[in-house]
Amino acid sequence: MCGIVGYIGKRDVAPLLLEGLQRLEYRGYDSAGVVITSPKATGLKMVKAKGRVRDLEARVPKRFTGTTGIAHTRWATHGAPSDENAHPHLDAAGKVAVVHNGIIDNASELRAKLTAEGVEFLSETDTEVITHLIARADAEKLEDRVREALRHIEGTYGIAVLHADFNDRIVVARNGSPVVLGIGEKEMFVASDVAALVSHTRQVVTLDDGEMATIKADDYRTYTTEGSRTTASPTTVEWEAESYDMGGHDTYMHKEIFEQADAVDRVLRGRIDDRFSTVHLGGLNLDAHDARKVRRVKILGCGTSYHAGMIGAQMIEELARIPADAEPASEFRYRNAVVDPDTLYVAVSQSGETYDVLAAVQELKRKGARVFGVVNVVGSAIAREADAGVYVHAGPEVCVVSTKCFTNTTVAFALLALHLGRIRDLSVSDGKRIIAGLRQLPAQIEEMLEREDEIKKLAQEFAEAKSMLFIGRVRGYPVAREASLKLKEVSYIHAEAYPASELKHGPLALIEPALPTVAIVPDDDLLEKNRAALEEIKARSGKILAVAHREQEKADHTIVVPKNENELDPILMGIPLQLLAYHTALALGRDIDKPRNLAKSVTVE
Ligand code: F6R
Repeated sequence: MCGIVGYIGKRDVAPLLLEGLQRLEYRGYDSAGVVITSPKATGLKMVKAKGRVRDLEARVPKRFTGTTGIAHTRWATHGAPSDENAHPHLDAAGKVAVVHNGIIDNASELRAKLTAEGVEFLSETDTEVITHLIARADAEKLEDRVREALRHIEGTYGIAVLHADFNDRIVVARNGSPVVLGIGEKEMFVASDVAALVSHTRQVVTLDDGEMATIKADDYRTYTTEGSRTTASPTTVEWEAESYDMGGHDTYMHKEIFEQADAVDRVLRGRIDDRFSTVHLGGLNLDAHDARKVRRVKILGCGTSYHAGMIGAQMIEELARIPADAEPASEFRYRNAVVDPDTLYVAVSQSGETYDVLAAVQELKRKGARVFGVVNVVGSAIAREADAGVYVHAGPEVCVVSTKCFTNTTVAFALLALHLGRIRDLSVSDGKRIIAGLRQLPAQIEEMLEREDEIKKLAQEFAEAKSMLFIGRVRGYPVAREASLKLKEVSYIHAEAYPASELKHGPLALIEPALPTVAIVPDDDLLEKNRAALEEIKARSGKILAVAHREQEKADHTIVVPKNENELDPILMGIPLQLLAYHTALALGRDIDKPRNLAKSVTVE
């Protein structure tokens, strides 16, 4: 998804902006551009290129110097990836430059109106209308011109504006797309993601929707789009700049898979209360009295986070005995759902910026619901919009496909389930049992990851498959879904996930030697049922890879996973399948960290 980075200070700006763009590459993009100026300059200098940041870098001329600038990585929405459609966009006089994340809903209307007034458009983007509106605004100050332009805009935006006649400042605005200011020593940064800032400063101010800011080298001020001043105190970003490096791994996906034991350790740290066999979740703001009143839990998320939510819903039902289910936020927000005051709504998102999830949260809050966030990125839009919540503390996840955040989110749900359970009817001994299980997880993850070579060998075979089936029953079903998503995203092999209990109702027709099945077979009360499914597949000459707690004789191969408590088993069973997806994609030579057509945080619809 698009990325913004900007700088104003004394340093040579172009290298700084290019480095910032590289740090945003993980979000997915198709073109990039940069525009710069300096206090003594009389105009703006701009370079844009379709393709990678390195293609842009190759086009930057030798004498491209300045101390103020804004830059962008674009993910096409209006108009194909091209040099012309890449941001920044300039007005006809070459004085106003705009970079923009988000979507302008009334762009075609505004474009028609501006064209009728004689404006010539140079791109097919929605963003270019903002540039022309600012250029035509009738006001003295740049801030007022931007404000005047935004009055005409419907849709979402995070924008940064540079003006040749006001080259001591950058003006930014936010509505539905993140904008973060980075505060340095006599220099200021702006970005859509802290990843672009943390190597320079960890003091940040995150803008709210409806907020604007003017940044100068030694000063910043924030105000609403209506013009009233707001107070924004800087916070410190916890994540280190090094967390964004590859750390000796060939890909971020590999690095992040191997960070999972530490990440799980972090989400548990300081939260377990042995005295009462429960957990403390500081940000939850839910006292025992309120917790007892919860009659349902509804979990909303997208993609991998939705799958983590499915696992979470089962844990909450099992441990807290509260009816719970998960639903894709993207569906929920459009179906005019009945919003019930006794339901606890939980929005789950790694980035905390996924538009579909945010829109669902806003709709719920408008209807008076209480919404919790289970989020990785501190201070993100969903974290701020939610009434309370739990951070999953996975650290930054750079690879477009989610691995460690999925695992940490499932652990965060286990903590929530245990917390609710111990307020309700979960016994002390069951609380102790779950806590002991949680404590075992980091070591068991390490043990699991030692099987990498075995999984790598299997992946060579699976790389030849045209399609794969993933099955699981009850606790195993969300694991199968997530494994299937992981494989298709990163290897582009078609994969389908089905409840094992549904085999006979249709998918059995697909079984043949060329369609491998991956079966999740935990050693729990459903073991015999799952074994029966393996028999059915074997009887039809299907090839089977089982992920189980012991060897499965009907399977062609079993990846044996360490056993934990039944309720916590799904947390571990997905991990070998992350490695399977990874090595299959590697064998096929895929661009693992940036799968085609995908973006890390989907901040548009
Ligand atoms: C898959 C993946 C996506 C995200 C989804 C939601 O590997 O990463 O399916 O899980 O786009 O993103 P977040 O969790 O940031 O809301």
